[in-house]
Amino acid sequence: MEGTPYRRLFPAGPDTDALRYTRELELGEARPGRPYVLANFVTSADGRATVGEDSRRLSGTADRELFYALRERVDAVLIGPRTLAAERYKRMLPAAERRERRRAAGRPAEPLAVTVTRSGPVPRDIPLFRDAPDRVLVIDGDGVPLDAVLATLRRDHGVATLLCEGGPTLFGALWRAGLVDELFLTVAPMLVGGASAPSLVGGPATDADPEELALLGALEREGTLFLRYRVGEMDAPPTTPTD
Ligand SMILES: NC(=O)c1ccc[n+]([C@@H]2O[C@H](COP(=O)([O-])OP(=O)(O)OC[C@H]3O[C@@H](n4cnc5c(N)ncnc54)[C@H](OP(=O)(O)O)[C@@H]3O)[C@@H](O)[C@H]2O)c1
Repeated sequence: MEGTPYRRLFPAGPDTDALRYTRELELGEARPGRPYVLANFVTSADGRATVGEDSRRLSGTADRELFYALRERVDAVLIGPRTLAAERYKRMLPAAERRERRRAAGRPAEPLAVTVTRSGPVPRDIPLFRDAPDRVLVIDGDGVPLDAVLATLRRDHGVATLLCEGGPTLFGALWRAGLVDELFLTVAPMLVGGASAPSLVGGPATDADPEELALLGALEREGTLFLRYRVGEMDAPPTTPTD
């Protein structure tokens, strides 16, 4: 096992590490005409997605290990332009060993970093564009609905698994369009307060009923909870690891 273990709370099972946990995930098949879509967020116990301008203070070592292990697993990562700017995105997999593992498995060394904008500026001065320019895709989403954006990723770029890292505006739009299959939510043991900090779902309020989620998994490490939810229709119940 690598590093400090994560305790498996649900389904009950042996301790795990980030790499093993994400390798064992039974992700769904690509949907008709689009990738299978995961989202990953961290919030405080009071549901805030930022402290000040970004999420850095919510995310400790355990969260970062899982964050990078999820990236290592997927074909592409979708990030809103405002998140790219606020968090000063770097290349998807800064650790050479992660890139090497993917290469050894016959995959591109890093997932494709994708952003979509309909009008606004993309922060091209961030390290991401300098470090791995051939693994960045900027999609012009003007007049293009998000399901068509996802269809392009599936058809033209071979993306079968897509990880959305937010922010709340882009994630909210994806969710309202019914394009999210799973949510990985890290709950940091912290209260942030303040009315201005966003939750993980942004965008306009609607009269739609709240969506009920199915809990697929829960881990704990150093007081931080790592929850995995099914969003939308369930394909199959979660399985319990046995080793
Ligand atoms: N806690 C966490 O895990 C977490 C994760 C990510 C981000 N964050 C925080 O969230 C903040 C940034 O999030 P944000 O919500 O302001 O911005 P965002 O979701 O990163 O980006 C929003 C932009 O996405 C573009 N977009 C493209 N297609 C869209 C569509 N169909 N619908 C809606 N937007 C679309 C829009 O730009 P155009 O108008 O140009 O189309 C919009 O302004 C930062 O403070 C960041 O630190 C926290």
